Amino acid sequence: MSWRTGARLLGLLLTGVAGSPGAAAAYEPRINYMLQCMGCHTPDGSGEPGRVPSVKATLVPLAKSADGRRFLVQVPGAAQSTLSDAELAQLLNWMIQNLSAAKPAHFTRFTAAEVASSRRTPLVEVRATRERLLRTVVSGPMPGPSGSGPPARGSVGPDR
Ligand code: HEC
Repeated sequence: MSWRTGARLLGLLLTGVAGSPGAAAAYEPRINYMLQCMGCHTPDGSGEPGRVPSVKATLVPLAKSADGRRFLVQVPGAAQSTLSDAELAQLLNWMIQNLSAAKPAHFTRFTAAEVASSRRTPLVEVRATRERLLRTVVSGPMPGPSGSGPPARGSVGPDR
């Protein structure tokens, strides 16, 4: 091949490398959620009564306290996923923004560093920790837009 063709090919290759967002960004958060979390948490985060709790009203209040933030990272489904720390941070931010019943006007975004600092510490007593946090972090009854809050605990009925 001529040097021209060679140069053009090299240029294409370099453009390809520079244009790709980097190996770490394998999938965007929405796709990671679909692949790794949605099976349990359902597309809109409402979960499955009696098995997987709804995260629609819990993510925002939990993300406001240090203990709550550690819990969000350490909960088995999150901590033990195959995602990198950076991907998990992005996914948690995506969940807070997209699955919360009341969209947060502002929240402190998770970073890879924050995820790394708590992820490796296993969470013992997951259920008990969740209950305690939700009692203290979410003061009063579970929040939700008036009248359209999450279904009561243990309620049965169609998923949505
Ligand atoms: C096998 C089912 C299952 C899968 C898969 C799963 N989770 Fe969960 N998740 C749960 C359950 C159940 C809870 C409630 C706490 C507990 O008992 O572990 C929960 C709680 C959470 C919480 C805390 C919020 C709250 O209100 O308790 C977060 C954050 C979370 N999951 C994120 C994820 C992410 C991110 C993924 C995917 C990478 C994921 N989960 C995959 C079952 C699952």
